[in-house]
Amino acid sequence: MIQNTHNPKIVIALDYANPQDALNFVEQLDPTLCRLKVGKELFTAAGPHLVEALIAKGFGVFLDLKFHDIPTTVAKACEAASRLGVWMLNVHASGGSAMMEAAREGVERSGQQPLLIAVTVLTSMNQQILNEVGVAGTVADQVLTLATLTQKSGLDGVVCSAQEAPILRQSLGQDFCLVTPGIRPADAALDDQSRVVTPRQALALGSSYLVIGRPITQAKNPLEALIKIHEGI
Ligand code: C5P
Repeated sequence: MIQNTHNPKIVIALDYANPQDALNFVEQLDPTLCRLKVGKELFTAAGPHLVEALIAKGFGVFLDLKFHDIPTTVAKACEAASRLGVWMLNVHASGGSAMMEAAREGVERSGQQPLLIAVTVLTSMNQQILNEVGVAGTVADQVLTLATLTQKSGLDGVVCSAQEAPILRQSLGQDFCLVTPGIRPADAALDDQSRVVTPRQALALGSSYLVIGRPITQAKNPLEALIKIHEGI
């Protein structure tokens, strides 16, 4: 039985270099089964018009631009992003509470109500890199510190790995949104991901939304791959 709600939990990462490839792919999908993530590469190449075109097709769009700047600039960027009508957008929690509170105010000024979430520690960062930029604690401590600050600043959730989800869920409650990449169906290639979990495991660990890219974008039949993942969860 496919869970066909209007709150689909699968967010497909549209990691394409140009708008035409992205649109050709999206033509094969169904907006009641997934949302779409537009990141820095595609947004820089294609601009806001592509985001508006995806929304016009009925898709919820997660604009993954990870804003990190002085509070006023982030507030204005978040306001502009929200005016596009996106479903979700994000900032870096390491910008601090003043920046995140400004981001929240920018979203509110737009008159729209997207989910506003934060990135804690990029999963590309390990202990050594964290120390290099002056953070003495462990990666896990830093993730929890920044996720707690995100919640106190009035944001809706964080991007995190599914492994981090149980502790964040326990500390931050049921309503905090946990968005997790690094998802692989049991029969899919790992690509360049190392610590992966299946869609079903991620939800069991406390994920709210699953970001999935190549297992769907590189599939021969993307809609079939998407439906199969739905059936698995
Ligand atoms: O193709 P794949 O499923 O690995 O794509 C995952 C998406 O999530 C990509 O857009 C990647 O940049 C993003 N992401 C990630 N790990 C993070 C944060 C974001 O894989 N920690």
